[in-house]
Amino acid sequence: MDQDISSGLVVEGVSLGYGRTPIIRDLTLPALRRGTLTALIGPNGAGKSTLLRGLAGLGNLTGSVRLDGEELHRLPRAERAMLLGFMPQSLPPPISLSVLESVVGSLRAGTGASSHSRAGDPVRRAYATLADIGIAELANRELSALSGGQRQLASLAQAVARRPAVLMLDEPTSALDLRHQTVVMREVARLTREHGLVTIVVMHDIALAARHADQIAVLRGGALRAFGIPREAITARLLADVYDIDARVETCSRGSLQIIVDHAL
Ligand SMILES: Nc1ncnc2c1ncn2[C@@H]1O[C@H](COP(=O)(O)OP(=O)(O)OP(=O)(O)O)[C@@H](O)[C@H]1O
Ligand SMILES: [Mg+2]
Repeated sequence: MDQDISSGLVVEGVSLGYGRTPIIRDLTLPALRRGTLTALIGPNGAGKSTLLRGLAGLGNLTGSVRLDGEELHRLPRAERAMLLGFMPQSLPPPISLSVLESVVGSLRAGTGASSHSRAGDPVRRAYATLADIGIAELANRELSALSGGQRQLASLAQAVARRPAVLMLDEPTSALDLRHQTVVMREVARLTREHGLVTIVVMHDIALAARHADQIAVLRGGALRAFGIPREAITARLLADVYDIDARVETCSRGSLQIIVDHAL
């Protein structure tokens, strides 16, 4: 990927909340480069979903959010929608649509003349996305007849199929079994690198985040408490400060970061 100095997502002086209640106050993140995956972690109520929704254009965000140097709020709505892909924390409603149809619908909704995602037949692309995340066998099943985890995978397929420039996933693995958690994170990381996306994934599993993310952003009380590569950002002290837990951060025999929680403080 071309990586000039302004390539990526810059979040600067961002504030947002609900009504008059501020949740995120004057938040600035280090630049999120294209082709990198950022895990956004933090305790319940930290403001992760609020921030992601705000970046996705849902909410009363003030401040500056620039993609490759371009202020997102200045772009026409349709153009912005094409650049941003968002998977909310809540599962999609169990409607009478097949999984494949729902992904095709998302492809058609989010494409425009200038979009690279227009390339190819939408049905083929939708099917390829399902195959990539390992749920091709669900293609013709109705969303209303799926398990919670299967519905979450379908929702993920809807968000990633378009390959938006900025991919924002709010707890995409929370309902998944161990294998699907790994497959999904591996696939999201691959798409991010291959297509030069800026990907932000909210998650609670810090070990899973450490394995797949290029950097970790830690939020508490609507403020950034740490940011960096997993091995440097995640420390026992940080876990005590941010999560109020006494925990050990260890490296397993194969070199992965492991978190062992001893007790709540
Ligand atoms: N629609 C809403 N109206 C008012 N307050 C809200 C609304 N949604 C969330 N909040 C409040 O905003 C704060 C941040 O919530 P948010 O959903 O962003 O947290 P989170 O970090 O995503 O937590 P979790 O890990 O539980 O998903 C919380 O105090 C929450 O109660
Ligand atoms: Mg949330």
